[in-house]
Amino acid sequence: MDHPLIQHKLTIIRDKNCGTKEFREVVNEIAELMVYDVSRDFALEDVVVETPMGKTTQKTLAGKKIAIIPILRAGLGMVDGILELLPAAKVGHIGMYRDETTFQPTEYFVKMPEDIASRDLLVVDPMLATGGSAIMAVDALKKRGAKTIKFVCLVAAPEGVEALREKHPDIDIYTAALDDRLNEDGYIVPGLGDAGDRLFGTK
Ligand code: PRP
Ligand code: URA
Repeated sequence: MDHPLIQHKLTIIRDKNCGTKEFREVVNEIAELMVYDVSRDFALEDVVVETPMGKTTQKTLAGKKIAIIPILRAGLGMVDGILELLPAAKVGHIGMYRDETTFQPTEYFVKMPEDIASRDLLVVDPMLATGGSAIMAVDALKKRGAKTIKFVCLVAAPEGVEALREKHPDIDIYTAALDDRLNEDGYIVPGLGDAGDRLFGTK
């Protein structure tokens, strides 16, 4: 997404000198700004409203049911920002970590709202690197009946976008930036480092 505010804020968190507090705040701000584009196809319906001048028929959101699904840990950093604009959304959690040498993800926790089959799901994770975690998260959601899924990240590698598109061509991918490549350690270059560690001040 090439919106100037998003690009500006992404540059702030790419800086290795950006500390935990600012990193957290800005990740949420970017996620909030991204909702503007992610929600572009939300359906509207007519509603009659009475202004001080009289009755008029106007548009309102057609009662869309949304669930935000952060991939733990780093996806948690985007949830509050998205909830600022979609405050009634439910939140499901999916826990996943990547093996440091094989980059294979392991699922360790899943807790979903019971009606995910009838909700539009926003799977959120700041980083789409090899795509393994996103693919496994979408697999887990589809296995539980999910039908409409969008994947929202801050930084993606071309390898991850391709892998996710190939395995799940039906889901829309939104990213604030498409970076150059993955390095030999499976990190996105230039990227922003380890998003989970930077959000939570670990390592
Ligand atoms: C990071 C990131 C993604 C995943 C991306 O999580 O938040 O979930 O790696 O890599 P992939 O596309 O190659 O699967 P990590 O496993 O480091 O866990 P964390 O969020 O707990 O730090
Ligand atoms: N996970 C991260 O947090 N950063 C990367 O660059 C790749 C995977």
